[in-house]
Amino acid sequence: MCGIMGYIGPKDAAEIVIGGLECLEYRGYDSAGIALAEGHKIGISKCVGSVANLKTQLEKCSLSGKMGIGHTRWATHGGVTRENAHPHVDPDGKVVLIHNGIIENFHELGEEFAKKGVRFVSETDTEIAALLISSLYRDDPLLAIREACGRLRGAFAFVILFADIADRYYCVRKGPPLVLGAAGGEAFCASDVTALLPYTNNVLFMEDEEIAELSAEGIVLYGFDGLRKEACPHLVDWDASMTSKGTYPHFMLKEIEEQGSVLRRTLTGRLENGVIGLEAEFPFSEDARLFRRIHFVACGTSCHASAVAGRLADRYTGLDVRVETASEYRYGNVICDKHTLAVFVSQSGETADTLAAASLAQARGARCLAVTNVVSSSLGREVGSVLELRAGPEIGVAATKTFMGQLAALTLLTLWISKRKGLLAPQEEKRLCAELARLPAKVEDILARGEDVRKIAERYKGLPAFLFIGREASYPVAMEGALKLKEISYVHAEAHAAGEMKHGPIALLNERMPVVAVVPKDGIYKKMLSNIQESRARRAPIITVASRGDEDIRRFSNDSLFVPETEEEFTPFLTVVPLQLFAYHLASILGREIDRPRNLAKSVTVE
Ligand code: G6P
Repeated sequence: MCGIMGYIGPKDAAEIVIGGLECLEYRGYDSAGIALAEGHKIGISKCVGSVANLKTQLEKCSLSGKMGIGHTRWATHGGVTRENAHPHVDPDGKVVLIHNGIIENFHELGEEFAKKGVRFVSETDTEIAALLISSLYRDDPLLAIREACGRLRGAFAFVILFADIADRYYCVRKGPPLVLGAAGGEAFCASDVTALLPYTNNVLFMEDEEIAELSAEGIVLYGFDGLRKEACPHLVDWDASMTSKGTYPHFMLKEIEEQGSVLRRTLTGRLENGVIGLEAEFPFSEDARLFRRIHFVACGTSCHASAVAGRLADRYTGLDVRVETASEYRYGNVICDKHTLAVFVSQSGETADTLAAASLAQARGARCLAVTNVVSSSLGREVGSVLELRAGPEIGVAATKTFMGQLAALTLLTLWISKRKGLLAPQEEKRLCAELARLPAKVEDILARGEDVRKIAERYKGLPAFLFIGREASYPVAMEGALKLKEISYVHAEAHAAGEMKHGPIALLNERMPVVAVVPKDGIYKKMLSNIQESRARRAPIITVASRGDEDIRRFSNDSLFVPETEEEFTPFLTVVPLQLFAYHLASILGREIDRPRNLAKSVTVE
């Protein structure tokens, strides 16, 4: 949450910082701001709204500099106003600071300063950090930052300019991520590696409780104890072209359309000649027979992928399966010990609740695995053992291709555990592997008919609410379909296990509330038909997501979205695609800001 970009070097800092912020806008877009240093003169420009507004504002003024820091905000403390936009400055103008995170003791600290007569300009928790550092600063910036960090509680990533220091800026990390890069007399920082890719892919992921000094000479790292630390850069195998929209109108559509290739990449090398092989990536293969429990822990879309995997694990692993949202898991009294395999699923690897849940499980002795798209993310580094999604950078706030990558990675993992426990017969493995290998082409087949989905979305554009239903593995798919719809179209959508309809949700139905039923040909198909009939009897329009060739379903549906047939274990890989497209097209018809839905951020680094 919140995007940060910083630069020092021979070039115009404004252009680089604004370019970085545009790339990071998926992290927040309530307001934006920039500070540019020209010698000892620091100029600030900030505004409500997107980075585009900031860019226009900057073009009209004469700010420039070779060192600059910028911020795109997702509001936590304080409304969306210009005053609350970052950067923040202390009253003496000595310290200019931007922040991602939450400072929990800002009230207490604020009262201390208020007693001394300080008047605050903003309602944010950030202003206090600028004040505190300034009050502690004599002539040693590192010391002032260290002392301030000792007094601040909560989570923070700061980027700081000192008005009397023209050749360096500082970064601090305790919680939210910061990535650094230096090359050819330039030094950059950003909240996410994607913003650095146009300049370097040799990057340094700051660890917790580190301070970095960035100058034309490069990067010097310190711990909160003031001691120098060795910098260990990572080479990231993404490039800048992967973060471009190309000819697509939105990142979301581009990413939906990439799903066939994402699936191929995720399966490559892990599925050969009808055999699943995860030896290299799953360090607990030898312990598999000792596992008693498997926990899948995640947030948002990642949790829906986990719920699909949970059903597969029920069927194939013989383990006690638990699927939980990270924000609940971390506060529950969960049995989680050395007989537990705890799988943390996160596209970004930076979600605060997922990270906290992983620390808890590690402390309790569970065998922990991260399933993430960003191997060098905080989660990847915290957990150590990583199963990579290989989906490439995902920019659209609504996750799509990473859901597909998660389904693939978690399916492989689940079947691998089953195999290691001696529960997966070779014939069965062969059958499942053969079908897994066919899935990318089937996904592409659905995508090729994407325009049909648009026509259907057109027919439902005026309706205020949708109800999604499914059973077994199709229930989390229904949840994902409803989430996609509400996230980007702002149309009310809720999902229920189809069997629960008559225990309450059915009361909502009328001719203005369509039911979207995920009803592939599987073992529970007949039961789903009954639920669809019950909904029709209440005059709800019915949209079905069904298996191609299922002509019967047309009799019960106002509209049908068909997907190719597959093994019943794998229907979610296919049924989710028309739902992503439905959400996309409805949002596009309604004229929504698809890649930047209101109030949301892609990476949720606060709890
Ligand atoms: C945010 C995003 C969602 C995402 C969730 C979990 O809410 O808007 O799209 O599913 O975070 O993110 P993660 O990176 O942990 O998968």
